[in-house]
Amino acid sequence: MKGSVKWQSPSNIALVKYWGKKGFQIPANASISFTLSNCHTTTELKWTKSDSPELTVFLDGHENAAFKPKVAAYFEKIAQDYPIIKEYAFEIHTSNTFPHSSGIASSASGMSALALCTCSLLETLDVLQKPFFEEASNLARIGSGSASRSVYGGLVEWGQHPDYAGSSDLFAVPYSDVHPVFHTYQDTILLVHEGQKSVSSSVGHGLLDNHPFSDKRFEIAQQNMSKLKQILSNGDLDSFVELIESEALMLHGLMMTSSPSFILMLPNTLAIIQKIQHFRKQNDCHIAFTLDAGANVHMLYPEKDVDKARRLIDNELAALCANGQYICDTVGTGPTKL
Ligand code: DP6
Repeated sequence: MKGSVKWQSPSNIALVKYWGKKGFQIPANASISFTLSNCHTTTELKWTKSDSPELTVFLDGHENAAFKPKVAAYFEKIAQDYPIIKEYAFEIHTSNTFPHSSGIASSASGMSALALCTCSLLETLDVLQKPFFEEASNLARIGSGSASRSVYGGLVEWGQHPDYAGSSDLFAVPYSDVHPVFHTYQDTILLVHEGQKSVSSSVGHGLLDNHPFSDKRFEIAQQNMSKLKQILSNGDLDSFVELIESEALMLHGLMMTSSPSFILMLPNTLAIIQKIQHFRKQNDCHIAFTLDAGANVHMLYPEKDVDKARRLIDNELAALCANGQYICDTVGTGPTKL
């Protein structure tokens, strides 16, 4: 038996960050993100019933050995709940709309696209044990925590939290109790650095296990989730800006105070942050920044500030980006089956 399926799945940018785990792919605190639109991965999963299960991974049409161990580990894990997976050989073709090594969360879009393809296969085999998207999010989490949030559009919450009804550590849920200003939020990703990250997210998460600030961090993150819930419903953009910038700096503060410590920000990351904050004060707007586990800056702003953001990028920020590169994105509607 042979078959194939193709999904396109977006990246996401966290507002309250997932950083630290309590057990296998269980987040130490809840997190919430905007699903993006233009930054996405397209993955085709081809399967063949086989006595010698094989796995081949192609990135942009070329066989890619580097991704294979991560994908193989994912299938091993999934096979614990779905042993039927072991009866198949897989060929995976994947491509991203953004440069793989740009520091944009390719694991979120990549692992969510693969999880959605896996769920389609399980559905075809008539063995899917849970509702489709709940299981897709669960499987995506097993591949990469932040990927659990990419299976839905808009704002998506992952991790148990008393203020978020239906929230779970095992899968993400869409969060829709939001003011209209957040429906059209903009994210311009300023590419400060194009190389590979010096420290992987998995290693960074691990360093929270013996971190002097971790307990306080997890407590603050849970509190920030409560505060953000209010902000998301009343559209208080001043408070939104303050909270997301604090989250980004705390994430990097945790990295800088880990043992061993590491610094992912580069001089131009800081230069951009300072220019954004200065511009905001001078121009009465809500242009703010957040950061992933990398040097790039995500500039988040409401649609009303698009012209001001354009001016800031053209006049000051593009010159601080690697080869002047940046990506304009917006909140998106989630994955599509192709
Ligand atoms: C800084 O999801 O990449 O982007 O579960 O080990 O694959 P793993 O980690 P990953 O961590 C993402 C961390 C972050 C914050 C966030 O997206 O919440």
